[in-house]
Amino acid sequence: MSAFLRLPEVPLTRRDWMRHSAGAAAGGVLALSPAATLLAATDPSFAQGHYASVLTENTHMKLQVRGSIPSSLKGRHLRNGHNPKAGASPKFWFAGSGMVHGLRLADGRAEWYRNRWVDTPALHGAPLFRADHSVDLRASAAGTNVVTHAGRILALQEVNLPFELTPDLATVGAHDFGGRLKTNMTAHPKIDPVNGEMVFISASPMEPCLTYHVADRKGALVHSEVVNGAGPSVMHDFALTQKHAVFFDTSVVFAPKSGLPFPYAWDERYPAKIGVLPRDRRQGGVKWIAVDPYYAFHFSNAWDTQDGRIIVEGTWWPEQAWNHTARWVNGATTDEPAVRHCRLARWEIDPAAGTARMRLLDDLSFDFPAIDSSRATRAQRCTYGVAFPDGALKTAALVKFDTGSGQRQVHSFAPGLLPSEPSFAAVGGTRAEDEGWILSFVSNLRTGHGELHILDATDLRKPAQAVVEIPSWVPAGVHGSWISDDELRQPA
Ligand SMILES: [Fe+2]
Repeated sequence: MSAFLRLPEVPLTRRDWMRHSAGAAAGGVLALSPAATLLAATDPSFAQGHYASVLTENTHMKLQVRGSIPSSLKGRHLRNGHNPKAGASPKFWFAGSGMVHGLRLADGRAEWYRNRWVDTPALHGAPLFRADHSVDLRASAAGTNVVTHAGRILALQEVNLPFELTPDLATVGAHDFGGRLKTNMTAHPKIDPVNGEMVFISASPMEPCLTYHVADRKGALVHSEVVNGAGPSVMHDFALTQKHAVFFDTSVVFAPKSGLPFPYAWDERYPAKIGVLPRDRRQGGVKWIAVDPYYAFHFSNAWDTQDGRIIVEGTWWPEQAWNHTARWVNGATTDEPAVRHCRLARWEIDPAAGTARMRLLDDLSFDFPAIDSSRATRAQRCTYGVAFPDGALKTAALVKFDTGSGQRQVHSFAPGLLPSEPSFAAVGGTRAEDEGWILSFVSNLRTGHGELHILDATDLRKPAQAVVEIPSWVPAGVHGSWISDDELRQPA
């Protein structure tokens, strides 16, 4: 276990960041095996190598396992990702049709693996924009995330409605909360494990730019409200505490004249800010706090302190990190990893004082954070995620940060193997925060197959507890979840 970097506890400006990163060694490039036959130099970045589509829907009932699957695991590890059909040519990564990969575990066995496209109108060619330039909320790529709430499995992409899936990954259809949801829905809803609510936002480059929604524990949409003051930036994620929703109006802004396929660009002049909204809607409106230019992609968790401050942890992206990934998202061919230069960070927000201070917690290139979801909205210390090759890290890794002890653990993979966003599966009952299992699909360019790796969350450095071999290709993707069988029951 090695202590992770403690950077200065002062607000970092962009200039500070540039000085810091200038001192870091040049990044190592992931060395691909000669077996990486999926590479084709003429394809866009997001159609190459680890990201090359799997062109068939597969079902495997007999899966080879190395090691021993914990008998406590009863459920599904699901992960979504952009996976265009044969012949489809999306202009940027996020436009590729979504495919959900799932592997069911029960009684110490790997019962099945399935991969299924989310069957939306967009999969069959329906355009996002109608002739009158309005967005077709049902024409979703549905390729960003897959979550569960109130017994439903939802595949999500932020510019559309969610799509409901069956436990076997067949598509039920668009889910508009019985006609009540009139907007798009973020791909990163937050579920409050205390009261069971699912809280989510709708972000849009057009007014209203931000809408706040609450679904109750049974899945009924009970509140929708426009949040004034937000602008046309990328608000891909947000944060939720027991008392507050926190919005991140970032420096990556809608740029329709940029000519970029994904038309968003860093804008230093844009008034970057953080908004705090009381969840008790009798407690007043949103309070916006001006901050230095920044981008923040994903938030692992947030909580209230006893003295009225808010702590948010997530991934902070400086301009160079956004520009690096934006080139990749827009298809520029590169032999560099899709993600680098972004870091685990902590924001300390004082709504009463109107201040927000950010500090970096580590120096690894890191994103796709995951936590024990039963601890969401309240103080916790263990965050897991993917660390990307950069600086001293030569290959991709799964990593665990313990912000209580200031220590991190790294589980590295051989060249040619790329882990996906992990999920945390608890063992149940009274337990330590990290007592459970980390699950991650791994795309193996050496074999051209996929794998599910199961790691002991108490010590990520240990060899995998089990590796389930999937006899077909599983490309790298985006977000997913561990969904226990208990979560698929309708709440009483
Ligand atoms: Fe995301």
